[in-house]
Amino acid sequence: MTAVARHIALVPAAGSGSRFGAALPKQYTDLAGQPLLRHAIARLASHPSIDRVVVVLSPDDTRFDALDLAGLRPIIEARRCGGDTRAASVLAGLRSLAGQVTPDDWILVHDAARPCLPDSVIDRLVATLADDAVGGIAALPVADTLKRADADARIETTVARSGLWAAQTPQMFRYGVLLDALEHADLDQVTDEAGAVEARGLSPRLVEGDPANLKVTYPRDLQLAAQLLAAMGDVS
Ligand code: CTP
Ligand code: MG
Repeated sequence: MTAVARHIALVPAAGSGSRFGAALPKQYTDLAGQPLLRHAIARLASHPSIDRVVVVLSPDDTRFDALDLAGLRPIIEARRCGGDTRAASVLAGLRSLAGQVTPDDWILVHDAARPCLPDSVIDRLVATLADDAVGGIAALPVADTLKRADADARIETTVARSGLWAAQTPQMFRYGVLLDALEHADLDQVTDEAGAVEARGLSPRLVEGDPANLKVTYPRDLQLAAQLLAAMGDVS
């Protein structure tokens, strides 16, 4: 491992937001006066450990070029290579970096739909994983008791929560490790980068995330996201 590995944020932003259910793709939904995607990019670009921010768009994206990125560090670039699934979008983004990165460089995959990423989560990932050969993910230990439901929404069983964590992003892996994992993955089945890395027999680290780092999935998530953003202060 080299000590000079760079940290490249990769933001998959080629989804349609079907659960969000708006006419506009979810990543362009307004939150406190800016599209969700701009918030996510701004959080990453304002962190001093991040060297580049690569945004993966749908090939027919019509809105990215209108984003006002003027106040942000000029380390942001877009690639119109998004695919049918999140994993396909991430893999296409990784392939587009071939020749520009080394296998040891770090890739921090971060959802466009997580606009409130605290600096402290990036700090912890970068510090905890610095000498790691594989990488790891931001995640939170599950606090609630978990129930498995039957088809009638009745409790079938109580799932022991001991040892269970809820995955967030960023998910931070060595470029070479992540490319290999996604090249071998069933892209329709993989739900996060760690899952693909696990399937190669590796064990990603769990690094403490933050409850503020919520993913906007449904319209109801916007109100809480707006409150969290207001409490965090502006980065640009
Ligand atoms: N994403 C992507 N390419 C896809 C699907 C998703 O780049 N084919 C991105 C989304 O734009 C989002 C992130 O992956 O930034 C997390 O996905 P999710 O929150 O599930 O967003 P959507 O897939 O757009 O929403 P839904 O699953 O409700 O359709
Ligand atoms: Mg999705």
